[in-house]
Amino acid sequence: MKNIKAIIFDAYGTLFDVNSAAKKCKDKIGDKWEDFANHWRTTQLEYTWLRSLMKRHKDFWQITEDSLDKSMKAYEIDSSMRNELLDLYKVLSPFSEVPEVLKSLKEKNLKLAILSNGTPYLLNELVNSNNLENIFDDIFSIEEVGIYKPHSRVYDIPIKKYKIQKKEVVFLSSNTWDVSGGGNYGYNSIWVNRNNNIFDNLDYQPKLEIKNLKDLLTNIEI
Ligand code: LAC
Repeated sequence: MKNIKAIIFDAYGTLFDVNSAAKKCKDKIGDKWEDFANHWRTTQLEYTWLRSLMKRHKDFWQITEDSLDKSMKAYEIDSSMRNELLDLYKVLSPFSEVPEVLKSLKEKNLKLAILSNGTPYLLNELVNSNNLENIFDDIFSIEEVGIYKPHSRVYDIPIKKYKIQKKEVVFLSSNTWDVSGGGNYGYNSIWVNRNNNIFDNLDYQPKLEIKNLKDLLTNIEI
């Protein structure tokens, strides 16, 4: 990977730990907290794909609420937890190495951006609540195009803004389907495989697989 002009990150699951909201409530939720968190996340993603296919767009916050409601029913979580879980979802924690790696990338001469399903408001909250507000050149939201990843219109957003070629982008995601989406679009997609998962069969193999963002610094020439 040479002549890279932009490094673009997925947000949820890649920079920020989507399970951290339920984890912070694990004393109240009990042992099932992780299964519940995974169900919430899977349902949330399914709703993004289904709504895109049905052309019935709702923003990511509404989808997060709708998927939470289904998962709370499925796991018999007391309804008094709803607001607490939603408030925590607005201030998800970053993975531990993220702030340090982003700060060292900031010193390089390239564009740093987020490209996410989240709304502009949610993404700004996430970035600001974790003191990362001076890192990114841009925080791109799919709300600009009104359809969710992995639609190619989403991956087009930074290309149009920066007037660069697809192959000049390094795109990082922990979500295998998002790596495939960005890679099939033409980005150099890197898979951040934190949990030893198995990759998809969706016509793309990641340019690189790393365990966490620290490995990025040693693997690409900037
Ligand atoms: C996002 C989802 C895919 O941030 O995690 O776009």
